[in-house]
Amino acid sequence: MVKIAAETDRRFAFLLASPEDDGRGGLYAAMRHAAIGGGKRLRPLLVAATARLFAVDPEHAARTGLAIEAIHVYSLIHDDLPAMDDDDLRRGKPTVHKAFDEATAILAGDCLHALAFEWLAHRDTHPDPAVRADLVLELARAAGPIGMAGGQMMDIAAETTSFSLAMVGRLQAMKTGALIACCVESGAILGRLPPEGRTGLRGYARDVGLAFQIADDLLDVEGDEVLAGKRLRKDETMGKETFVSLLGVEEARARCAMLVDQAVAHLHAFGPEADLLRDIARFVLGRDR
Ligand code: IPE
Ligand code: IPE
Ligand code: MG
Ligand code: MG
Ligand code: MG
Repeated sequence: MVKIAAETDRRFAFLLASPEDDGRGGLYAAMRHAAIGGGKRLRPLLVAATARLFAVDPEHAARTGLAIEAIHVYSLIHDDLPAMDDDDLRRGKPTVHKAFDEATAILAGDCLHALAFEWLAHRDTHPDPAVRADLVLELARAAGPIGMAGGQMMDIAAETTSFSLAMVGRLQAMKTGALIACCVESGAILGRLPPEGRTGLRGYARDVGLAFQIADDLLDVEGDEVLAGKRLRKDETMGKETFVSLLGVEEARARCAMLVDQAVAHLHAFGPEADLLRDIARFVLGRDR
């Protein structure tokens, strides 16, 4: 994880270097503020861990992981805005709209969103244009109305409507699960694994994604703000329906553990080459940040 963090920082620093100061200096500084330093880098790690199963060129996996992380960072910038969760702390630093201003935060998010697709579509990501088109398609689906952004909308609705457990599961699968699933799917795309061979990996990704969001909701209730690097105890104050509010802490934790076991079980067809994926699943359960 230390290695992937340093590599992700280095790549973002290179790609987000400021142009001459023609008025866009703050925009680049805001993108660097959000993208560099901190964060678990779970998404790039998932791409790398999946790509490893198929001996994918690590450069191709790293570029793909970076593009997905850029979408994730953009989603965090916008999630923290006053119109959404109105947060002042992220990854142990002031949120972008606090360190800069709201307009800059919105635009920095917009730019990271666009840059993700630019990086993915670039020839260096994969020599085969069909592979690149598949990667772009997957990420666009995962980020849009049937994925992260749609899930964020449902999350807002969950503040004022009472949601069933099934609806909360669907919401979580979209807002967090879609991008996590996209990491594993992208590793399989880079590895040219035919879709009919992806069932086990898709099951793994679905369960890890859900477990990850349940762990986030548990963290919100029980975590330490300094370790987490973000404000906690927010979901209840905002009246947000989550697995924890519906099931209680104990049952939510049991469900998270069950999902992690199930995720690992989905990898039964793989040998030691999938140990990193297994470790990632287990990390989700014990995480304190
Ligand atoms: C936080 O994501 C928001 C969710 C989708 C739950 P992470 O917990 O992956 O945040 P970072 O990237 O480590 O900061
Ligand atoms: C945000 O979920 C998920 C995104 C798509 C950004 P949360 O609002 O629970 O994430 P945190 O707790 O602020 O990191
Ligand atoms: Mg939110
Ligand atoms: Mg939030
Ligand atoms: Mg949260």
